[in-house]
Amino acid sequence: MDSTELNKIMAAFLTAGIVFGLGGVLGGKLIHSPRPEHPAFAIVSALPEGVSAAPREVPIAALLAHADPAKGQSDAAKLCGACHSFNKGGATMVGPNLYNVVMAPIAEGDGYDFSAGLKAHHGKWTFDDMSAWLKDPKAYAPGTKMAFAGIANGRQRADVVDYLRTLSDSPQPLPPVPKEAPAAAATAAAGSAPAAPAGPSFAEEVGHADPKLGEAAAGRYCGACHSFDQGGAALVGPNLYNVVDRAIAAAPGYSYSAALTAKHAAWTYANLNAWLTDPRGYAPGNKMGFAGIPSEKQRAAVVAYLRSLSPNPHPISGAGAGGADKPGQGAHK
Ligand code: HEC
Ligand code: HEC
Repeated sequence: MDSTELNKIMAAFLTAGIVFGLGGVLGGKLIHSPRPEHPAFAIVSALPEGVSAAPREVPIAALLAHADPAKGQSDAAKLCGACHSFNKGGATMVGPNLYNVVMAPIAEGDGYDFSAGLKAHHGKWTFDDMSAWLKDPKAYAPGTKMAFAGIANGRQRADVVDYLRTLSDSPQPLPPVPKEAPAAAATAAAGSAPAAPAGPSFAEEVGHADPKLGEAAAGRYCGACHSFDQGGAALVGPNLYNVVDRAIAAAPGYSYSAALTAKHAAWTYANLNAWLTDPRGYAPGNKMGFAGIPSEKQRAAVVAYLRSLSPNPHPISGAGAGGADKPGQGAHK
């Protein structure tokens, strides 16, 4: 890239920095601090002890029902305006023009050179995807070049998403509000087998996930504490080779917390999902200093990667790793 472009990007960074500061003051703790080198878990881990992250808290569909697109417009001007235009036919700036982006294919806007990280998502900008992306862009698309730390606050995110929805000749209808939402959130927070009231099971998502993306995410999120190679060393945490369907807390030579040892079960897909969603909710008192991965897609990718770490990867469906807690089947020797 030439230096003018670099300057533009630097300017955008600075502006965005100022905007973050402002937004932080105006909106309380609404916005993640923009620290690109800082792993996401450190940011999301600032929860009071005993409070589980409950990443599925309130679905975006429920928040959208009460969202305020006018507020979303003023937030978007502050938070996104340094890098995006919103008007029909608007200019490409640091980021692509955002007119008509809701339900458009991801990373295909005319003439914009998207990162491989974002292009790896092949779907559309559904409301759920848009919410996950704006909550934590780097978690949603590792390697993205959108230097924006995310909007942590669900209501504020919904306002912005609702505003994006209005940017169209014929705006998409609001999504239906899921009825089971609070129950699903409670179950996920309690760490029992995740209830999937609709949509594919987590195991199925693992089957469709890209282990390569998972490897990249695991490198960033987990690599400081875990090795992944066969016979790899215990670091802060145990080696994770062949962990899928292994008995919980069974890596030789690692001293687990009582909280994890007390689980007499195997690392089924469902249990890995619950654990990686909210380690503290799943095993209160465990010693994994990691707040969880909010995005289900990303969890599935990480688990798809873990699954690949085996001479004989565990099947996706059928007996074994699909279900709820049950005794370990001792896949390891
Ligand atoms: C510092 C600059 C910057 C800021 C601030 C920023 N973005 Fe972006 N945005 C980008 C870049 C760069 C890309 C391309 C990302 C890639 O290719 O990985 C992008 C991509 C996107 C996309 C994907 C578009 C598509 O066609 O697939 C959406 C949606 C988006 N941004 C929305 C937002 C919203 C909403 C905000 C504010 C809440 C925001 N962005 C803040 C730079 C920024
Ligand atoms: C800050 C360090 C740290 C990070 C980051 C971390 N872990 Fe852990 N992990 C640990 C520790 C410590 C334990 C042991 C927990 C206990 O005994 O309570 C553990 C345990 C585990 C276990 C249970 C293994 C077994 O043999 O029963 C799995 C699975 C796991 N981690 C996966 C992950 C994944 C996947 C990531 C990244 C998404 C991750 N961890 C991120 C430190 C970490």
